[in-house]
Amino acid sequence: MNRRYRKTIIAGNWKMNKTLTETKAFAEEFKPMLGRPKWCEVVLCVPAVNLQAAIRMFKDSRVSIGAENCHYESSGAFTGEMSPEMLKDIGVKYVIIGHSERRQYYNETDFTVNKKVKAALEAGLRPIVCVGESLEQRELGVTIDLITYQVKCALAGVPAEKMRHVVFAYEPIWAIGTGKTATSAEAQEVCEAIRTVIRKLYGARMARAVTIQYGGSMNPKNAQELLAQPDVDGGLIGGAALKPDQLMDIVNAANQD
Ligand code: 13P
Repeated sequence: MNRRYRKTIIAGNWKMNKTLTETKAFAEEFKPMLGRPKWCEVVLCVPAVNLQAAIRMFKDSRVSIGAENCHYESSGAFTGEMSPEMLKDIGVKYVIIGHSERRQYYNETDFTVNKKVKAALEAGLRPIVCVGESLEQRELGVTIDLITYQVKCALAGVPAEKMRHVVFAYEPIWAIGTGKTATSAEAQEVCEAIRTVIRKLYGARMARAVTIQYGGSMNPKNAQELLAQPDVDGGLIGGAALKPDQLMDIVNAANQD
């Protein structure tokens, strides 16, 4: 983390979890734990069907609500999809783009990720852009090359004035839902590489200001060490974000002086 230059953001990605009833129960337990605002911003990315209710539930708290996906067109014949404008209009602030599960199961590519990033920014949302390598790619030694490519693709055509709204999440695929976390050195190396790409594209000042999260089996036990890395500015958290006390422990780790 480097709080002098950029925001620390702890974001939960609930994936396809929690009914409306369970979302309410979470909010009732989590809100009182949060207390007064401190350094880190807290975001909950929830299933689309519960977005509006979640926005209402967290209205009087410092939790922002995010979506888990959006389309790249603003309207049209795309059955079952949601546009960034629709999300913005109901009060959504963030949207996860290019999560590896969407790349793997729903054929998202670096090309569609780029279109979605631009569309989200155009609508006034903050995209959380996910990048990450598979175990095979890591073992081949191409991690940094691949991440550089993914970041460049995601940002193609993104103007500098919009860039400060972009958040990146480094999520090694082999660490997602496996209980196997990247070491803090591995997380730092890749987050630093992401910042280097941004520096080359947008200059040092912009690179310094962009929030880069780590995601992949982050939990209350390993959060502090990961967040202590200079280029790791927060977390995108799956499993541990489903439990109010675990998420709160991670937020507390990010809020340490
Ligand atoms: P886990 O924290 O469950 O490994 O999930 C990480 C993730 O995919 C967040 O987007």
